[in-house]
Amino acid sequence: MKHQSSTLAVPEISAVPRHVAIIMDGNGRWATKRFLPRVAGHAKGVDAVRSIVEACAVRGIEFLTLFAFSSENWRRPADEVSVLMRLFMTVLEREVDRMDANGIRLKIVGDMSRFDAKLQEMALKAEQRTAANTRLTLTVCANYGGRWDIMQAVGKMVREQPDATDFSEDQLQPYLSMAYAPEPDLFIRTGGEQRISNFLLWQLAYSELYFTETFWPDFDAAALDLAIESYRQRERRFGRTSAQVLNQKKAS
Ligand code: FPP
Repeated sequence: MKHQSSTLAVPEISAVPRHVAIIMDGNGRWATKRFLPRVAGHAKGVDAVRSIVEACAVRGIEFLTLFAFSSENWRRPADEVSVLMRLFMTVLEREVDRMDANGIRLKIVGDMSRFDAKLQEMALKAEQRTAANTRLTLTVCANYGGRWDIMQAVGKMVREQPDATDFSEDQLQPYLSMAYAPEPDLFIRTGGEQRISNFLLWQLAYSELYFTETFWPDFDAAALDLAIESYRQRERRFGRTSAQVLNQKKAS
């Protein structure tokens, strides 16, 4: 499906964000604060994922996108990387039944070629198994980078039209790895840092940004509600003036 680009047209805005994208930061610090190994924070992070997926579905959010592993996370110590990989496998093994039963469609985006063949196969099977679900689309970004996404899309677009010299934004959109989703309305980063860290660079053009000090393992439904409340108070102008936005609201 082709979704409207925020730079080409003003999208419809709903009180509940249609699409929430999250950088789940602070797992390591959550664990260190408790004198636990960093990986205990990642394990606890999985519990937070489970409850936030359900909380989003209950609130009518249609798309939830989570940054699980960035293209730069390979720079971490090898033992932490391998624990994370095992954790992803365990999640795919243990959680897909529950997701399927709860109407969750799972998508995994990123350059999967660098992952173990077994993990790639499990990811594909989980996607196929949940493909018909419609309650919420959960996208897990794994070995994902915003620049990687733009470059792979450009590559595909140019290969399909080798003689073209001019391209427009809406020609690129269908090649982006999340072409099936509207752009995120709300971006959340937990853990206190205020940066995008090469997440969805293209798609975040007009997203509302929300940063919280809360570490990811502590991010619960109440914390999600605070983020949604903050989102509701924003005036989404998409380049227009405040008066224009108010007039449009009155007219509708
Ligand atoms: C950032 O915290 C978190 C990660 C790099 C991994 C995120 C993974 C999970 C929450 C578990 C698996 C999730 C899914 C969807 C299967 P950090 O380690 O950078 O924390 P720090 O900044 O405190 O060190």
